Amino acid sequence: MKELIIAESAGFCFGVQRSVDMAHEILNEKGKLKSLGELVHNNDVIKKLSSEGMTVVNSVDEIFCGDEVIIRAHGISKKVQDSLESKCVSITDATCPKVMSIHKIVKRASDNGRFVVIIGMANHPEVEAISGRCDSSIIVENVEDLKSTFESNPELRDKAISVVVQTTQTRANYVQCCELLKKMCTNVEFFDTICSATFTRQNEAVELSKTCDAMVVIGGKHSANSIHLAEICREYCSNVQFIEDADELKLDAFRGMSKIGLTAGASTPAWIIKEVVNKMSEEIKVEQTFDDMLEDSLKPIYNGERVTGVVAAISGTEIQVDLGAKYSGFIPTSEFEDAGVKVSDVVKIGDTIEAIVVRVNDVEGTAMLSKKRLDTQKFWDDVEAASNDGDIIEGTVIDTNKGGVVVNVKGVHVFVPASQSGLPRDAELGELLKQNVKLKITEFNKGRKRVVGSIRRAVNAERKAASEAIWNEIEIGKKYVGKVKSLTNYGAFVDIGGIDGMIHQSELTWGRIKHPSDVVNPGDEVEVRVIGFDKDARRISLGLKDPDGDPWKAFTDKYNVGDVVDVTVVKLMPFGAFAEVMENVDGLIHISQLSNTRVAKAEDAVKVGDVVTAKITAIDEEKQKISLSIRALLATDAPVDEDEVVEEVVEEEITEE
Ligand code: F3S
Repeated sequence: MKELIIAESAGFCFGVQRSVDMAHEILNEKGKLKSLGELVHNNDVIKKLSSEGMTVVNSVDEIFCGDEVIIRAHGISKKVQDSLESKCVSITDATCPKVMSIHKIVKRASDNGRFVVIIGMANHPEVEAISGRCDSSIIVENVEDLKSTFESNPELRDKAISVVVQTTQTRANYVQCCELLKKMCTNVEFFDTICSATFTRQNEAVELSKTCDAMVVIGGKHSANSIHLAEICREYCSNVQFIEDADELKLDAFRGMSKIGLTAGASTPAWIIKEVVNKMSEEIKVEQTFDDMLEDSLKPIYNGERVTGVVAAISGTEIQVDLGAKYSGFIPTSEFEDAGVKVSDVVKIGDTIEAIVVRVNDVEGTAMLSKKRLDTQKFWDDVEAASNDGDIIEGTVIDTNKGGVVVNVKGVHVFVPASQSGLPRDAELGELLKQNVKLKITEFNKGRKRVVGSIRRAVNAERKAASEAIWNEIEIGKKYVGKVKSLTNYGAFVDIGGIDGMIHQSELTWGRIKHPSDVVNPGDEVEVRVIGFDKDARRISLGLKDPDGDPWKAFTDKYNVGDVVDVTVVKLMPFGAFAEVMENVDGLIHISQLSNTRVAKAEDAVKVGDVVTAKITAIDEEKQKISLSIRALLATDAPVDEDEVVEEVVEEEITEE
């Protein structure tokens, strides 16, 4: 079974539709009208309008005082306009607004002394009109023409040049010409004035002709855009019929083909497309009725509506978006420019883009669009979804007031009451300014633009989730990086990411300390390891000191009883002096072992800081005690009984404790 695919852009463009509508309006009211040149390049349309009272005239000389005159979509030169205005006639200007904007470009260029290069068909009325709007210009049809024109006029290379292009030209031709001009000239500015409707129509023709076995192009044989359309289709498809109406259609040519594409020029009226489609429908299956497609393409758009289009051109100030046959949309480029970001980084010609309609101009067929507003709308939707689903979202605190803080969540302002800020009651809310915070939405009212959130709830929810994760994976020896939350006399509480664990003072360090604050303080980040836990009681014991750094082990690995060491006196007691043997390992020199003569007080023999040589006389592995003796190294009147010394030491230490 054969299949017919009709291009969505087939048929009247906005400019042609507008001029035909204007002619109908005048004919309805006045009954007669003179069109200066063919209103559109289509015989059937001209015939129909002629039957209603329109006459096509080819010169201003054929226009007389009292005539109703319409200027066609292609526009007219300044000279013709002046001549028309000198006659007492009523003029309706149906020049397409897109063509008018080219007139403005070339006028400004001329006023600034620039030479204008027009890429287009030399004898086409649109091109003639453009040329007649500037002081000095040349018209080139293609790159070969351009090359030979510059070869015969080498002085052009040194001119300041502005380049415009006929609205219905192919982009490939325009790009080729631009590349050559860039090489030949030093002062050249380019204006891509190809109409977005043309651009879309040609793109669609390329896509269709690539996938179809045959193509039908409907259009006037002297219509520039229809001729280009047929040329484009022939590039990708070997079976192309370029016809003016249904009578010229050869159905036999479709024999054995399964997929046929159809497109039509900008001046082809819907009724001719319909006749062709009807004729083809007798032979093949048509997926969508032409009426439906026509209705779709002419559907009006409204302010606030979400629309999708294709980026057709990017100028210095706006991005032109093709929204189908009836409208062209414009988005200010400023909406895409952020700190350090260029428009070309985020959008390019051919991209599909979604935006919100801000203002519609039905007369000009243009619509001002905003991508930012759409983004904002989407962000509101995201915030609403987060509110419905209880999800946590992120934002930046941008303001504070008496009652709380304001958080910017992708452009949506969320109020967070002070009680939900997550800060202690007496804390300064200003602390949160410019901070990135997570929050849960607790109230969402889009109509009143009121959104309330809670940072506290988000923090609690995250802590709960983190805590569950920790309890699921906890094991002895596992390490966590945590933050010291508070200190007590016996240790420190550490938040390990959702749960608080406790480091007992004895697990803070191997050394002797008076208070946990000798090692850590609230706010410190520490790496801790789990040394015990009770899932039922939800208690975790943590250790901070290095398990491999046990100084007692280091001591016993190095020293034995009988070894002689240099030690530093660190503390004096009534029963002797404590001396550091190595870091965090002290031994006791009993008062009886400080000298080989009787010592009444320890300070009579040594003082804190003295480095003395002593003998290790005993090591108590169980109690991790060391006995030292200076006396043992001195000449004595009586030998030292080492067992007696150890007993003395133990006695004294019990007294000390
Ligand atoms: Fe105007 Fe573009 Fe049609 S310039 S006349 S809308 S092809």
